[in-house]
Amino acid sequence: MTTDTRTGPMTGEQMIAGAKAHTLFEWSAQSKVDPIPVARAKGIHFWTPEGKRFIDFNSQLMCVNIGHGDERVVRAIHEQASTLAYANPFMATEVRARLGARLAAVTPGDLDVFFFTNGGAEANENAIKLARFATGRHKILARYRSYHGATAGAISLTGDPRRWAAEPGLPGVVHVLDPYHGIQRGWDSADESLAMLEEVIQLEGPQTIAGFILEPVTGTNGVLVPPDGYLQGVRELCTKHGILMICDEVMSGFGRTGAWFAVDHWNVVPDIMTMAKGLTSAYVPLGAVGMRRAIAEHFRDRVFYGGLTYNSHPLGCAAALATLQVYEDDRLIDNAKRMGALMSDLMTDLALRHPSVGAVRSIGLFGLVELVRNRQTKEPLAPFNGSSEEMAALGRFFRQEGLYTFVRWNTFFTNPPLCIAEADLREAFGIIDRGLEITDRALA
Ligand SMILES: Cc1ncc(COP(=O)(O)O)c(C=O)c1O
Repeated sequence: MTTDTRTGPMTGEQMIAGAKAHTLFEWSAQSKVDPIPVARAKGIHFWTPEGKRFIDFNSQLMCVNIGHGDERVVRAIHEQASTLAYANPFMATEVRARLGARLAAVTPGDLDVFFFTNGGAEANENAIKLARFATGRHKILARYRSYHGATAGAISLTGDPRRWAAEPGLPGVVHVLDPYHGIQRGWDSADESLAMLEEVIQLEGPQTIAGFILEPVTGTNGVLVPPDGYLQGVRELCTKHGILMICDEVMSGFGRTGAWFAVDHWNVVPDIMTMAKGLTSAYVPLGAVGMRRAIAEHFRDRVFYGGLTYNSHPLGCAAALATLQVYEDDRLIDNAKRMGALMSDLMTDLALRHPSVGAVRSIGLFGLVELVRNRQTKEPLAPFNGSSEEMAALGRFFRQEGLYTFVRWNTFFTNPPLCIAEADLREAFGIIDRGLEITDRALA
């Protein structure tokens, strides 16, 4: 059966029926998907075809950092498309040259050379390739509470349950525990976590380990801000054992945490850094792997065995250049820091007033609330990798009230575009405040 999609603008119902009839939705049993139909978006809002307005409190997939519909980026993409929509990656283009230099300026330390991809997963695929080629070693350490993408290698690096269906995965990936152990067990100190890491390095054989990949501030697995000293300690251990430190800044980069990159909060310079999402604010797909000069030097006289038809795609590069300019012109990273401080206060206030709030965490405009069924035992309101009626009801309430965000397990996210203003932030927290009355009832 086919659905006629040829005539006139569609209603929301037609969009949903058509998309469900002929396209596959990700990470879902298809009978369970219940998509929001989206017709247009501007700033921190998007609208259904029928005109229902949503506050985009997750920047879509934590990626539309500058906000929707920015004319400056749209114009740059349009101009690039009319001048040179595509050139193959063996060629040099002006946007590619300019973007490499701009990224070298904003990324930390001597991260100086960039390889462009279509998104975050491919950036991580190429990061582990670079690490293996540059060190001649094969193992990669990664953490359990992590997501690194859905391609074959990246899903093997991923520690969360999305990996399970892809196993057996890439040989040589070894997972280590994070400093965080879930809401009931809580946090290890930086020293405890580093001791565990060093023990794994010893047991695996440091001379076999090419790299350690980690999200400096973990994203979908809980907005986990590491204890002070942890990232510096990882840096030292990696240096000591000749292991390349690979920071996945796909979600935490480009202002999300109130700094250009999450590692900047701890003045750590990784050997390899991966990026996507906020690089173009998702106006056009683009990812990148940045590497320190010494790693790039390895490939001066040796072949880099990697490539993609859309490597350094001119539309992606043009979108990224314009997006970087918007961060600067509108001082969005400062705004993320300022609004982040307010968001942190608003979250603390929620925790004080709502018994179902078990923990709140944020850094900049990267935030998450963990809900519990019992404040003493901290039993989560939904199990690990599961859901519950209360969490589903909270999700329905947010949707009904026009607040879009991710509700996952016993958590929900607070990740608005970095251009958000105080009034909008307060409006969103007003909806959350009312929603938490539903989850508070679970404790009665
Ligand atoms: C930390 C992190 N790394 C990698 C990825 C994968 O990026 P992509 O979906 O662009 O392949 C994601 C996506 O959410 C991510 O959050």
